[in-house]
Amino acid sequence: MVPQRGCRASTSTSPTRGKHARRCGKADRRKDEFLATLAHELRNPLAPIRNAVQLLKLSAVDHPVVRTAQDIMDRQVDHMVHLIDDLLDVSRITRGKLALRRQPVELTRVVQQAVETSRPNIRQQFTVSLPSDPIHLHGDAVRLSQVLANLLNNAAKYTEPDGRIALTAALEGDEVCIRISDSGIGIDPEQLPNLFQMFSQARPALARSEGGLGIGLSLARSLVEMHGGTITAHSAGLGKGSELSVRLPVVHAPSATAHAPEPSRPDSVAMRRVLVVDDVQDSVQSLAALLRLDGNEVEMAADGIEALEKTRNFRPDLIILDLGLPRMNGYDVCRTIRQQDWGKDIFIVALTGWGQDSDRARTLAAGFNAHLVKPVGYETLRSVLASPSMT
Ligand SMILES: Nc1ncnc2c1ncn2[C@@H]1O[C@H](COP(=O)(O)OP(=O)(O)OP(=O)(O)O)[C@@H](O)[C@H]1O
Ligand SMILES: [Mg+2]
Repeated sequence: MVPQRGCRASTSTSPTRGKHARRCGKADRRKDEFLATLAHELRNPLAPIRNAVQLLKLSAVDHPVVRTAQDIMDRQVDHMVHLIDDLLDVSRITRGKLALRRQPVELTRVVQQAVETSRPNIRQQFTVSLPSDPIHLHGDAVRLSQVLANLLNNAAKYTEPDGRIALTAALEGDEVCIRISDSGIGIDPEQLPNLFQMFSQARPALARSEGGLGIGLSLARSLVEMHGGTITAHSAGLGKGSELSVRLPVVHAPSATAHAPEPSRPDSVAMRRVLVVDDVQDSVQSLAALLRLDGNEVEMAADGIEALEKTRNFRPDLIILDLGLPRMNGYDVCRTIRQQDWGKDIFIVALTGWGQDSDRARTLAAGFNAHLVKPVGYETLRSVLASPSMT
């Protein structure tokens, strides 16, 4: 995924060098593909694990030891999902396949989202200070909050629990400068120039004990630069804290700002007939159990042909359909259902490990109503069940 330094440096046009570069390019591509596949494969088992944890939480057993164990599993699965998502993002960026969804967005929203994500990791004294006037950006709110959350997570990770972390933002000409400063372990001046390189960890031994892949900052830099911004790091030296600054161009047309509707959080969901299709038994069963706990009537299928038969006989309102299935794949199942008179109004959701834009376009073209990427939190699934198009 990351071009080896020797490969990147070979700009000469001599035939041997050319061959070398081609070989390296091929090796890079294979590494990219391997990482994308690895991340995808690692994501799959996480879906049933997350469902099983949710099931335990909803079940009647309420013992402090059980609750602690559930919370640990919950947190660790979340952590693993983040690591895998980072890996996937990096592999997309290096292949030029990450597309931003830019729209007018207010800085407060981006900051709120980032703080919400990182809050569980921050034990230090933490302050946020934003200008009183709204600051408007043209950006991908999800990606920008991901950048800030990465920086906040670093500050939390590399600062003693009794230290301080601050996030401040200020308008500077046509840019907003968002600074995240901490009173933590600081950064060796010699390391500063390498900090944003992929897999670079300023103190490998310590960093490893802290966990992490060393891609957070590199990802942050790529995302900021894709927004036309810059990111820099300052530190007065080891033990003297760090300050990471993100500069982004601002938009001076407040009227253009659209307020995206808040995602709805349904308290209860009307009962439905649901067919869950997945060849991984743990996935189907854990999801079916959760849906039944909510009062839905649920049937299960383990392959594409069985899915078609069950759909014909059971006539579900909703089908949650995995894509990679034995006997007939999910795309063909969906297309076949859509060709039937009785199959036009069924709400069909693709639940898959593949989440790139091209994958979404393919499911849409096959007739799916929604595309969810594993592992899906049960709350997300509930909001799909409660969405207007489903009611
Ligand atoms: N606030 C900070 N204070 C001190 N060192 C930092 C800080 N932020 C980053 N670093 C140093 O920069 C390195 C690279 O950071 P980066 O976020 O890319 O990787 P990571 O935190 O090690 O792993 P992950 O991929 O999980 O983010 C870190 O390993 C750490 O040594
Ligand atoms: Mg990090």
